[in-house]
Amino acid sequence: MNCRSPRIVVTRSIPSDVLIDLDRVGQVWQPPFDRSLTVHELKAAVPGAAAILCTLNDRVGPEVLDAAGDQLVVVANIAVGYDNLDMKALAARHVTATNTPGVLVDATADLTWALLLAVTRRLAEGDRLIRTGAPWAWDLAFMLGTGLQGRQLGIIGFGAIGRAVAHRARAFGMDVVVHAPRPLQTPAGIRQVSANELLAESHVVSLHCPLTKSTHHLMGEEALRRMRSDAFLINTSRGPVVDEVALLAALRTGVIAGAALDVYEHEPHVTAGLCDLENVVLLPHLGSATVDTRSRMARMAADNVLAVLNGKEANNRIDFRSCE
Ligand code: DGY
Repeated sequence: MNCRSPRIVVTRSIPSDVLIDLDRVGQVWQPPFDRSLTVHELKAAVPGAAAILCTLNDRVGPEVLDAAGDQLVVVANIAVGYDNLDMKALAARHVTATNTPGVLVDATADLTWALLLAVTRRLAEGDRLIRTGAPWAWDLAFMLGTGLQGRQLGIIGFGAIGRAVAHRARAFGMDVVVHAPRPLQTPAGIRQVSANELLAESHVVSLHCPLTKSTHHLMGEEALRRMRSDAFLINTSRGPVVDEVALLAALRTGVIAGAALDVYEHEPHVTAGLCDLENVVLLPHLGSATVDTRSRMARMAADNVLAVLNGKEANNRIDFRSCE
């Protein structure tokens, strides 16, 4: 690799101060438009690249890696989730892969609570009603929602974001149970329970697990049927953790009371029918979408690239074994 001017492919716009730092060490290539690259465009962009700075919309698998060539040393994902990276293919080619853990924990936990409140108190539905201009008036039974005090929040996946969501639950007086595949040290007052117990007893189920083979369609027809009929499902993790067709059926037939989604099984496509339901809140993948958080994510990814190009260990190297 020519270390004086390595080619650095940056698939989306990033803050200018971050770009300047990358520009100092290499030849930065960015697309002349601001949208996700198609696989074909990504393959055309990467030949000769030593580094790729990509987002969760860029699928980096064998085809892209082969197109890049042997000089590729690092793929830095501007996201904490890395299901878009084929870790086996990266490991086989000795390419370092990095992500952006930590910096988006609070933003994502806040957004989870925004969704939780929105769906239980019918915020989006109320907003839609006002905008129609239809007459409305306060009365004792008008647009009643579900209070949270004393009810149970079930958190599936108890990494940093799940923990931050649990921490915020205290402020709303909710009891918290968690489910994770391995035994956990839980904070005082929070019990680790089986998935079945969590689903059967929680008034709100919030998903915070990564997308892996074992979490794909974790919330399918059977799991949804285990939930209470007055319960709500919140997903700010990855879309394919939920079987959207099964969810649609569950919402239509009253198997559960409602759902709030920030992520989609076939993102950015939303399963037809979900948009017609009043008991669903839908956001366009905004979990980490604050100015500060997104800047920090881009900075972190760039620092990982710079470290590897300088022959150092990246701070946020993804351990291939954690993906097995
Ligand atoms: C992530 O970093 O994985 C988030 O989904 C981005 O919002």
